[in-house]
Amino acid sequence: MSTDKVQVVRTKRTGRVDALMTGKSADAVRGLRQGAMRIGNVADARRIAERRLPRVVFDYIDGGAEAEITMRGNREALEAVTFLPRMGVTQGNIDLKTTVMGHEVAMPVLLSPVGFTRMMHRTGDVAGASAAGKAGTIFTLSSMSGHSIEDVAAAGSGPKWFQLYFLGGRKGSEQLIDRAQRAGYSALVVTMDTQIPGNRERDYGNGLRLPLQVDASTMLRFAPRVALHPSWLLDFARDRFSLDIANATSLGDPDSPMSLGEATAGMVLFPPTWEDFEWMREQWKGPILAKGIITPDDARRAVDCGASGIIVSNHGGRQLDGMRATLPAMVEILEAVGDEVEVLFDGGVRRASDALRAIALGAKAAMIGRAWAYGLGAFGEAGIDRVLTIFRTELDRAMRLLGCLSIDALDRSYVEIPDSWVRSK
Ligand code: FNR
Repeated sequence: MSTDKVQVVRTKRTGRVDALMTGKSADAVRGLRQGAMRIGNVADARRIAERRLPRVVFDYIDGGAEAEITMRGNREALEAVTFLPRMGVTQGNIDLKTTVMGHEVAMPVLLSPVGFTRMMHRTGDVAGASAAGKAGTIFTLSSMSGHSIEDVAAAGSGPKWFQLYFLGGRKGSEQLIDRAQRAGYSALVVTMDTQIPGNRERDYGNGLRLPLQVDASTMLRFAPRVALHPSWLLDFARDRFSLDIANATSLGDPDSPMSLGEATAGMVLFPPTWEDFEWMREQWKGPILAKGIITPDDARRAVDCGASGIIVSNHGGRQLDGMRATLPAMVEILEAVGDEVEVLFDGGVRRASDALRAIALGAKAAMIGRAWAYGLGAFGEAGIDRVLTIFRTELDRAMRLLGCLSIDALDRSYVEIPDSWVRSK
């Protein structure tokens, strides 16, 4: 595993904390910031990431499972919700603040956990946490991170949540929970939908077979393709081609980090049950959210097992293809448990208007996965900053056009949903 640490730098002039490099690299950082201004929306960030990253890395971010029906379905569901704006009522400031699991956030867009960000840019999750802090929102650290729980905790001023995969069963999870708790993460997000990684055929087609060993023969296999992406290759090489899971320890050797292959195998060995969820509830002192919930029955079950929040998610269409889209699922889940716990939403959010559709339908906030990963892949932290700035600007504009002065006042009367979403009981 690489021992390189991403430097967490406080900028003198602004007091901002950045996960960027000092010294010689300062020019490069300026270059990234200038470059990031080319991003006008998430689609631009995606396009630029596609150019900078080798196909195998880009497709890992961009792809879904099998025929990608669910991934497309998330977008189609968002697009099926139309706005009912009010005229003649908007004057003055728009209040984008809201409270999520006890934290006041500057805008209702949070960062979902994304694994292996370090291969997108070596600043990975440190950059994500830092950018989220500047934007006044919450960052969720994936269990599949290449950065340590403590380094990410130190980056950025905002609240952080820790996403738990049940790597190493209860014993392994206990260590992760303990470290996250000590490092100050304020909520635990337990992902329930990853009994086994989904069948991501783009990865397979690109030669990404698990367990992946980053050895000479793998390098040789990928060399011709990655050579076409020199800026990425330089970044990855400076990071010593690190793909380890920084926080989980190897089952065979507790002094070594878990390898990617071992982590994937670990998921299959120990997918958490609801009994495990209750056990985690006892280990974790703060709020616990169940992620990957898509039916009202499972939402009920999660609440009965002690969840204080539900993240309605189908993993961005990366797990069971053909699974229902998240937005209509959320409408039903809110009917089942919306009075008892906070319900968050993710899947297909690419614009502020997507987030507003979900919030108008009852979500406390929307979360973004690929949107911030594209920004990271395009320009490192500067790219995430840019994506979050665009969300903020768009939120303000869309709220004005909607005729709604504050996020907390946004409700179902501002949107129209397809008739078929309301199931006859
Ligand atoms: C993910 N997601 C995810 N979820 C999780 O609980 N733990 C993880 O490690 C990961 N890793 C991961 C990697 C990549 C590359 C992506 C794109 C997604 C799922 C993620 O948290 C979120 O649910 C989806 O990304 C939401 O859909 P959109 O916003 O990407 O469309």
